[in-house]
Amino acid sequence: MTRTTPRIIAIANQKGGVGKTTTTVNLAASLHAMKQRVLLVDLDPQGNATTGSGLDKRALNQNVYQVLLGEKTIADVRATSPSGGYDVVSSSRDLAGAEVELVELPDRETRLKDALSTALSQMKSAISEIAAEYDYVLLDCPPSLSLLTLNGLCAAQAVIIPMQCEYYALEGLSDLVQTVRKVRAHLNPKLEIEGIVRTMFDPRNLLAQNVSAELAKHFGDKLFNTVIPRNIRLAEAPSHGMPAIKLDPLSKGAQAYLALAGELLRREAQSRARAQNLAQTAAPEGASSAQNNNAKPVSGEVSAT
Ligand SMILES: Nc1ncnc2c1ncn2[C@@H]1O[C@H](COP(=O)(O)OP(=O)(O)OP(=O)(O)O)[C@@H](O)[C@H]1O
Ligand SMILES: [Mg+2]
Repeated sequence: MTRTTPRIIAIANQKGGVGKTTTTVNLAASLHAMKQRVLLVDLDPQGNATTGSGLDKRALNQNVYQVLLGEKTIADVRATSPSGGYDVVSSSRDLAGAEVELVELPDRETRLKDALSTALSQMKSAISEIAAEYDYVLLDCPPSLSLLTLNGLCAAQAVIIPMQCEYYALEGLSDLVQTVRKVRAHLNPKLEIEGIVRTMFDPRNLLAQNVSAELAKHFGDKLFNTVIPRNIRLAEAPSHGMPAIKLDPLSKGAQAYLALAGELLRREAQSRARAQNLAQTAAPEGASSAQNNNAKPVSGEVSAT
């Protein structure tokens, strides 16, 4: 059965270079390969997810910037990744200016708060217009806790946090967890942490092992079992404008992202099943068949390697 609303996931970490974009692009391609309908929204002015999906930022003159300003809809500006098969709302450098313009929207002095909330709801309402067309919407956030990242966190139902297992990583993670709590308290009560994914992992590195153990202790089942190894194909793929699962599907990096997508689908199927069980226990006889109309078989799932 086809889902009626997509799962909207922001991929965020204010720390730069931890693998947000690599995760967004490869997860989008992996989910697409598993017959999911995927939209990637590039919220980063750097536009790496756009180019990594094989799209030319300069050739596309319509992008997420116009969507955030409310001038265009997602249907107006999206393009299909020629290499990955999923849809993309591309980024542009103009987005760097959007940080300022968004808060300046109607009248900076007197209506800053209103403007902020208008701006923050823009992506959310833009996504709601195309909701029936996708199973997953993935939002690639920039390396900051800026208005653009906040916009992503407000539009999302959940956040995936890619992180490298190194010394300062845990500190940065607690800042992000605080931000998620604040967003939940003030702006988006439904926001949850989908999971933390260990990226560029080197199992021979003792520090990485220790940080990984700390993560498991603090975050329990919020830590994805799938670990993304450091892998040259993942680093090379963007220069070909391709996700690694298209460049070299058998590479360790590609296999890891396929496994991550499988784990994501499996977890979601389990939590839907739990919700359905709860509803069946709570609901009077005969009232249960309307539940879980989002259920979708997890076909083509690849098991963790
Ligand atoms: N698992 C990996 N193995 C090898 N290289 C990787 C891996 N993941 C990411 N990289 C490389 O590390 C660099 C940073 O990755 P990426 O751009 O995905 O991080 P980011 O968090 O999106 O960065 P930014 O904060 O600038 O947006 C890139 O050159 C990317 O190709
Ligand atoms: Mg990035």
